[in-house]
Amino acid sequence: MNRNHTTARIAHVFSGTFVHSTPRAAVEILQNCVLGVDDKGKIAFIEKHQDVVSLSEIWGFETSDIKQLGQYEFLMPGMVDTHIHASQYSYAGTALDLPLLEWLNTYTFPVEAKYKDLDFANDVYTKVVRRTLKNGTTTACYFATIHTDASLLLGELADRFGQRALVGKVCMDCNSAVPQYKESPSECKEETDRFIKELLKKEYPNVKPVVTPRFAPSCSSSLLSELGEIANNNKLHVQSHISETKEEVELVKTLFPGCKSYTDVYLKHNLLTDRTVMAHGCHLTDEELEIFRETGSAVSHCPNSNISICSGILNVRNVLNHKVKLGLGTDVAGGYSPSMLDAMRRTLDTSKALTIQDPQHKTLSFEEVFRLATLGGSEALSLDDQTGNFVVGKDFDALRVNVCVPDGPIDLFPGEGPKVILEKFLNLGDDRNITEVYMAGRRVVPFPDT
Ligand code: GUN
Ligand code: ZN
Repeated sequence: MNRNHTTARIAHVFSGTFVHSTPRAAVEILQNCVLGVDDKGKIAFIEKHQDVVSLSEIWGFETSDIKQLGQYEFLMPGMVDTHIHASQYSYAGTALDLPLLEWLNTYTFPVEAKYKDLDFANDVYTKVVRRTLKNGTTTACYFATIHTDASLLLGELADRFGQRALVGKVCMDCNSAVPQYKESPSECKEETDRFIKELLKKEYPNVKPVVTPRFAPSCSSSLLSELGEIANNNKLHVQSHISETKEEVELVKTLFPGCKSYTDVYLKHNLLTDRTVMAHGCHLTDEELEIFRETGSAVSHCPNSNISICSGILNVRNVLNHKVKLGLGTDVAGGYSPSMLDAMRRTLDTSKALTIQDPQHKTLSFEEVFRLATLGGSEALSLDDQTGNFVVGKDFDALRVNVCVPDGPIDLFPGEGPKVILEKFLNLGDDRNITEVYMAGRRVVPFPDT
């Protein structure tokens, strides 16, 4: 426990129970520990409580400043939503009665077209950032719309409220049934360049652009190539959708006859890198998963959406067996819930449905799903050097959970230990149990204005 950062001062010290994942353990429960956060928002130490006096001398904090967690409280890493359409939040919870391609043209594109209006964008984007933060999403990988200024506004709001975010201005130049909702190829490239330049110029420490071709059916081959070049030249993240429905997979075969598979379309356009995350992947073949592994690209599993608009069932176990990085996504508004707790529950339901169909299928455990929502998500977004678990040197992105809040959704009974308390929170808890949220050491929930 040597103090190796001589300039850092300690901003917070917590004492109590810490729950997180490591590459080796899906859930590690650290009881009677102390965790220190420095004034840069990084985890400075995590040690046994018995060493607190020497820690306070080494790090120069007062033991009276320690925040003591109660018996029914714990800290866990902030959750990582690897796929969410901020622009679709206005109709989350509705419009789930059509399959994907009709759903896009009937509900999605007409709503997304409205983000030309910055007042509308400000209202929805403020609400989605606040709602997801309150529900424990400290990192979000957002789709915005084709509108550069509204997409920049989403980045500004994430920074202001204190959410780590990748923000994507959507790119699409074909196959939209809504004439006012698509761009010309040249406009799309110019606006993508402007979006990236302007967002990077803001120098938000935790908000970055992500290159965002909507999906292969919405993009010409030349647009996909341009976007691959922009992403590679600037070392940027890439996000899109892949193999969500069988109908879409068939459509891609007809639109890109020279490509061997849907994955091959993105591969040929240089869009598969270790900073790429592709949503859904329900119908990917083992051969395609092999390409994901080789390129270091990740899958975002969006189970609420997969079920709600009847797209498909992803076999997460198979993806993990292929050593492909995988995180969870809410996919609002194809998924009706903005909560990552819901994404975890739907992931378990989907895995259990696969076990019902095939008893040989090895069902995911709640511990594994906890890891997917935290460390797994950070790996899928290649942000695991910064967030995802409680490791010295990483940013302190954390939730303070209290399973015993007054009038809360959880009842406890004698003899229930920390693992049962965690399981109850994951299955029964909600935002009432998330009493504080920290991102990079800054307390962002409760909101300063409440
Ligand atoms: N594929 C292309 N666009 C979308 C979208 O907005 N939502 C979902 N679920 N799939 C898509
Ligand atoms: Zn999506």
